[in-house]
Amino acid sequence: MNKSIVLAITGASGIPIAIELLKQLLILDCEVHLVFSNAGIITFNHEMGTKLSINPEKCKENLALNYKLEKIDNLFVYRNSDWFSPIASGSSIGESMVICPCSMSTLAKVANGISDDLLTRAADVIIKERKNLILVPRETPLSVIHLDNMKSLSKLGVSILPPVLTFYHHPKDINDLIIFIVIKILNQLDIKHNLKKFWGN
Ligand SMILES: Cc1cc2nc3c(=O)[nH]c(=O)nc-3n(C[C@H](O)[C@H](O)[C@H](O)COP(=O)(O)O)c2cc1C
Repeated sequence: MNKSIVLAITGASGIPIAIELLKQLLILDCEVHLVFSNAGIITFNHEMGTKLSINPEKCKENLALNYKLEKIDNLFVYRNSDWFSPIASGSSIGESMVICPCSMSTLAKVANGISDDLLTRAADVIIKERKNLILVPRETPLSVIHLDNMKSLSKLGVSILPPVLTFYHHPKDINDLIIFIVIKILNQLDIKHNLKKFWGN
């Protein structure tokens, strides 16, 4: 077993990045604790053209089937209202958490210690336990409110990893751009992988 990672998907654009990350984490033998915000489910359905069940077991089945996920015994899906989930507690939370994509609303909540659902509670716990939190914020242009929130989280050691376009690795298609961001996230998680190495990663 590799690392135990909390993956949170919120209502920002960039769901294909989250799916590729989930896929790779499972391939790399990680235990993944997955939670969607309510808007995350809506955005997921909108961007992926699916209708994901909000029931955790059915959601897991949908994901495994539609995206050919491997090692799904290592995947645990929680309802965003499940306060009894292990990721709500400092004594059992994983080593790292990634919020990908991260909406400006979730960014603001996390930056201000507002933990009114499982997803934001898990992020709050990761910060208080001084573990590794990586945010993949997606909005453009950014307001001073967004930038201030990112700055205060960065000061706490949170990694701010926007999914920016890069061309120096000569991407052939969108998938190359997605993989590039996933590699950046895996590097921040300190997880070794065999994905194509791009110069400057
Ligand atoms: C299709 C779609 C795309 C969206 N994209 C973004 C985005 O890129 N960034 C963002 O901050 N909000 C985006 N939103 C708005 C958020 O979903 C909304 O602010 C929501 O309240 C966020 O809730 P959450 O943080 O609990 O997921 C989008 C909404 C929809 C329906």
